[in-house]
Amino acid sequence: MSKKILVIHYSQTGQLTRILDSILTPLKADPSVSITYEELRPAKPFPFPWTGKEFFDAFPESVLERPIEMQPLKVNTAEQFDLIILGCQVWFLSPSQPLTGFLKSKEAAQLLNGKNVLTVSASRNMWLNAQESIKLMLKNAGATLVGNIALIDRAPNLVSVATIVGWLFYNKKENYFGILPPSGISEKDITEASRFGATILDALKKNKFENLQAQLVMQGGVNLVKTLVNPELRAKQIFIKWANFISAKGGPGDSNRRVRTKIFAWYLPIGLFVLSPIAYTVSILIMLVMPGKAKKQRAYFEGTNLKN
Ligand SMILES: Cc1cc2nc3c(=O)[nH]c(=O)nc-3n(C[C@H](O)[C@H](O)[C@H](O)COP(=O)(O)O)c2cc1C
Repeated sequence: MSKKILVIHYSQTGQLTRILDSILTPLKADPSVSITYEELRPAKPFPFPWTGKEFFDAFPESVLERPIEMQPLKVNTAEQFDLIILGCQVWFLSPSQPLTGFLKSKEAAQLLNGKNVLTVSASRNMWLNAQESIKLMLKNAGATLVGNIALIDRAPNLVSVATIVGWLFYNKKENYFGILPPSGISEKDITEASRFGATILDALKKNKFENLQAQLVMQGGVNLVKTLVNPELRAKQIFIKWANFISAKGGPGDSNRRVRTKIFAWYLPIGLFVLSPIAYTVSILIMLVMPGKAKKQRAYFEGTNLKN
């Protein structure tokens, strides 16, 4: 019996689209599977590469998950799909603004209601908070999350912070003095993501998604840095305070919030290079004292359930 998949994607660099393409390789090769693509298009496009001003101005609304206006979808929202694969970007420990704009739209509620959804992200290395928000938005839209693949930059945390600056602000992904690795997901991880497609195809054909996530985890589909779990969870709480502080002065682009945005632009590198190594060390100590808690946390974030 033929199967219908909808792939929803938005990628500034093209990386996430390449990863989705790699995952889809086995599905595209199967004549019984038909694939429809839908690109998310914000009404006002975001820049790439970013300027510092635009980047930090995108912070409050990303963190507070305020939906932006999106261009209408091309797909008929009443159409039935056996599986929807949703490419997810992470911006400031939150779903990217185009993703929130889509997930909180009326069109998403029509399209996603009653559907099986598999999420795919390709972030630097901090995607847990964003995924929690995405789980909730999917639930509110009436969808069932049947799987999640999370790929990350495997370089050490502060190395990936340094290299992503070059990528996002200068579109310079590699050749850092021949010392630092290229920013983003490795070519090997992108190519080998096709193995997840075979697992998805199998679940799709059997129409049995109950064990899909466990299989994807076994295949290495969910990458998380366990020492960064607690620092990331704490950082989101701090980000919410900053986002409220900045947005109290005005909306996107409002010159009244420039001073507060600039203070945050100074705070962020300090947080990353000074505070985060401290949080990281504390996190290691907590893990040594409470190994059971760390194990439970990991199992939760590898899964698709949403805590109450
Ligand atoms: C505004 C902005 C904020 C970001 N914040 C995070 C973050 O909090 N955590 C993370 O792991 N990656 C973060 N990233 C990296 C993205 O998740 C992603 O890896 C990168 O932008 C390339 O994505 P694309 O191929 O979808 O365009 C951020 C990127 C942007 C542009």
